[in-house]
Amino acid sequence: MSTDVPQNRPKRLLVTGAAGFIGSNLVHWLLDRWPGASIISLDALTYAGNLANLEDVRDDPRHRFVRGDICDRELVAKLCDEGIDAIVNVAAHTHVDRSLLGGDDFVGTNVGGVQAICEVIKERKSIRLLHVSTDEVYGSQAPDEVATETTALDPRNPYSAAKAGGDLVALAYMHSFGLDVVITRCCNNYGPYQYPEKMIPLFLTNLFEDKQVPLYGDGLHARQWIHVEDHCAAIARVLEGGRRGEIYNISTGVGLTNLELTERLIEIVGKDKSLIKYVQDRPGHDRRYALDDGKLRGELGWEPIFDFGTGIEQTVQWFVDHEDWWRSIKSGAYRKYYDEQYGERIKH
Ligand code: NAD
Ligand code: DAU
Repeated sequence: MSTDVPQNRPKRLLVTGAAGFIGSNLVHWLLDRWPGASIISLDALTYAGNLANLEDVRDDPRHRFVRGDICDRELVAKLCDEGIDAIVNVAAHTHVDRSLLGGDDFVGTNVGGVQAICEVIKERKSIRLLHVSTDEVYGSQAPDEVATETTALDPRNPYSAAKAGGDLVALAYMHSFGLDVVITRCCNNYGPYQYPEKMIPLFLTNLFEDKQVPLYGDGLHARQWIHVEDHCAAIARVLEGGRRGEIYNISTGVGLTNLELTERLIEIVGKDKSLIKYVQDRPGHDRRYALDDGKLRGELGWEPIFDFGTGIEQTVQWFVDHEDWWRSIKSGAYRKYYDEQYGERIKH
């Protein structure tokens, strides 16, 4: 294997949303595998941001954490002027159920935040923006269909609509002002540091305590699943090799109904299926997401490393081994730490 560093690999990165699930995994991934890179992590520390996720890179001289909002153009501009070559915009409001309770933060960050970043790099065109998006922007796929990058957008909840809006804003700035924008759209992630409001960590942490797991509707909604490190590897490939203005779908092709996934988790944890509780469906719940990611694999040679069986067992073990981590979130104790260290919670 060649050890040459690709010519287009950015050296100084700004990763937004770095204290969340995917952002923190990405920071770890990049610091481990790109020894020549340095990273500024920017995160507003909303309820989903957790500095415990970055604790082990706190003293790494190649890494610095800044608390702040991507909508704050002055701050983003100041950070960019520290010699940033690329921004990976991972920051977003991400939980569909919360977006159904009120969409303001979703539009504010997922659309407005993307626009703020674009305004900043409009004056700094050498900076590449990789905007992390989602398979949800294509909406639900029929049983025999998969979405390619040219499939029409059909978002059907406030979260996915805001994500689609952010994608369109980024592409519009690319066309209008010549920005170097690339977009990735990934399927459902699982792995360490996922906030326990999302299905897998919520169900696991409930099962550990013999609590019921709330399965929406008939449980036959289907999602494709990828280990978060495979997602990070794909982001890295697109960062250094993706073509300007292009969109890259990221998936594994591993599709499961929520019932199949729940039964798998129950089996791994060694509990009883009677803990499944069918509850009222999520309003507008998309039935099936499915991506064609042939473009990424063909153009950039990316492939996932984790098979689902190994990845999910390792993830279950991670949650077993990190009981303090998820308990402090479920109890709310983790917020106290930030409020002491960083002052009052900011709005977003
Ligand atoms: P997450 O909710 O765990 O993390 C989001 C992070 O963004 C948090 O740390 C939060 O504090 C931060 N943030 C929110 N608003 C901000 C703002 N205005 N300024 C700065 N930081 C802000 O989410 P995640 O699951 O890690 O998702 C990250 C990204 O990946 C999102 O853009 C999401 O749309 C996308 N995505 C997620 C998945 C998935 O399965 N989790 C799949 C495909 C795409
Ligand atoms: O598809 C990518 C998306 O995956 C990302 O863009 C989102 O940010 C991320 O939150 C995730 O969205 P989902 O809605 O698919 O994830 P969630 O974990 O909330 O739900 C997964 C499936 O499980 C979904 O069909 C709803 C169902 N579910 C979820 C919860 C929280 C339940 O049946 N019960 C639950 O309690």
